[in-house]
Amino acid sequence: MNSKIPIESQLPIYTAAPAVESAIQLHASRRVYIETYGCQMNVSDSELLAGILVQNGYETADGLEDADVVLLNTCAIRENAETKVLNRLKQLNHRKRLQPNLILGVCGCMAQHTRSKMLDAAPYLDLVLGPDAYRSLPAALRSVAAGDAFVNLKLDQDEDYADIAPIRKDGIRAWLTVQRGCDKMCTFCIVPFVRGRERSVPAKLLVSEVKRLVNEGFKEVVLLGQTVNSYHDGAHDFGDLLFAINDIEGIERIRFTSPHPSDATDGMIEAIAGGDKVCKQIHLPLQSGSTKTLKAMRRTYTAETYRELVANMRRRIPNLAISTDIIVGFCGETEDDFMETYHLMDEIRFDSAFMFKYSPREGTLAYKSLNDDVTSTEKGRRLREIISLQEKISLEINQELVGCNTNVLVEGQSRRNADEYHGRTNSFKTIVFPKENSKIGDVVQVNINSATAHTLRGEIVA
Ligand code: 5AD
Repeated sequence: MNSKIPIESQLPIYTAAPAVESAIQLHASRRVYIETYGCQMNVSDSELLAGILVQNGYETADGLEDADVVLLNTCAIRENAETKVLNRLKQLNHRKRLQPNLILGVCGCMAQHTRSKMLDAAPYLDLVLGPDAYRSLPAALRSVAAGDAFVNLKLDQDEDYADIAPIRKDGIRAWLTVQRGCDKMCTFCIVPFVRGRERSVPAKLLVSEVKRLVNEGFKEVVLLGQTVNSYHDGAHDFGDLLFAINDIEGIERIRFTSPHPSDATDGMIEAIAGGDKVCKQIHLPLQSGSTKTLKAMRRTYTAETYRELVANMRRRIPNLAISTDIIVGFCGETEDDFMETYHLMDEIRFDSAFMFKYSPREGTLAYKSLNDDVTSTEKGRRLREIISLQEKISLEINQELVGCNTNVLVEGQSRRNADEYHGRTNSFKTIVFPKENSKIGDVVQVNINSATAHTLRGEIVA
């Protein structure tokens, strides 16, 4: 099946949905299971892939067992994300031996990053699609059915999938991609190379989409973009978009991820401060507390301007919860540079942080021109130090909340106890509490009675 691999680098992009009827006749038996790796943008992309499939007469499967197509929607951000997918592919190849008609595909960032190496590593793959090539999925499945493997890794600056209706699982929180691609050139980051140039979905379409989500029962929307606050559709910037969505009746909560510190405009800050639905919470990746390292990363801000931004936001938005991303062991990071990160984290006191060891990515500017000179052992030590600092800070911040009342959006049944629900506070903290008379989708007042670094517990107050 893999003998001939046409590289469809110039595939036309459909403007209208292909004839659904004939697709149904040809492929009624094709059930597709999508397994998602990586960030929320990938979750949202998997919903798009499902939308494209359903529009073309395919069905989505809830598990591997009843699928005859398995697609892995992948991440390339760090080496371990790619290793995970390669291991999964090996497992799935065993399954393919037992189920010879099983079609196996890799989509998304890792496909784009590794390109033909993907097929060297997993020659049994049937299809490989980059993040701008999802529309060719039906053509890919037809090609595979006809005996030819299929690859499309074309990046398309105009592709925003704005006309595709994503298929979301029923729920409370909906992810909405408002911007694709990235124009920043952080030296460590693979994203601009695998997702192409930045483009924004028109605000008008996004407002209609949020209205549709409200009608479908969603209570919260999370706006997604690689540097979401650089959103601009030609007429509206990110602050305008937040205010426009804030005006939609029926939406309870609005969040967004991830903004870039250099694009934190007054309009954005005003919208968080003044939009009653906009949650008082921001995920603001710092990456390093050393201005020298930030410069080597090409982050376009200094430790000082980041510190001022946080102070300004905290002044204008009382009780703002702030989380961040940190990379340790970047090229040239000395012990002093690392300690600057440590001290800035200690000073700012983030509510939580995602912390990573630097992982060189082939194709990035750092990979080409900087030296990955911090040993793996040293990266590990630095990571452990900031994790333990952050655990202590998160615990202290959460324990200060004990005794307070907080609004909670009820999201689902607790995994550990059928008599309890879990939900999130406005500040995006997870809280668990006895159900009482509440139901999923309600906003309830909960009195916080205990806290760990990661979870709050409480009871509904009458
Ligand atoms: N190595 C380690 N962490 C990385 N990130 C991005 N690229 C790399 C890399 N090469 C982290 C950054 C980013 C988050 C999504 O992943 O902290 O904000």
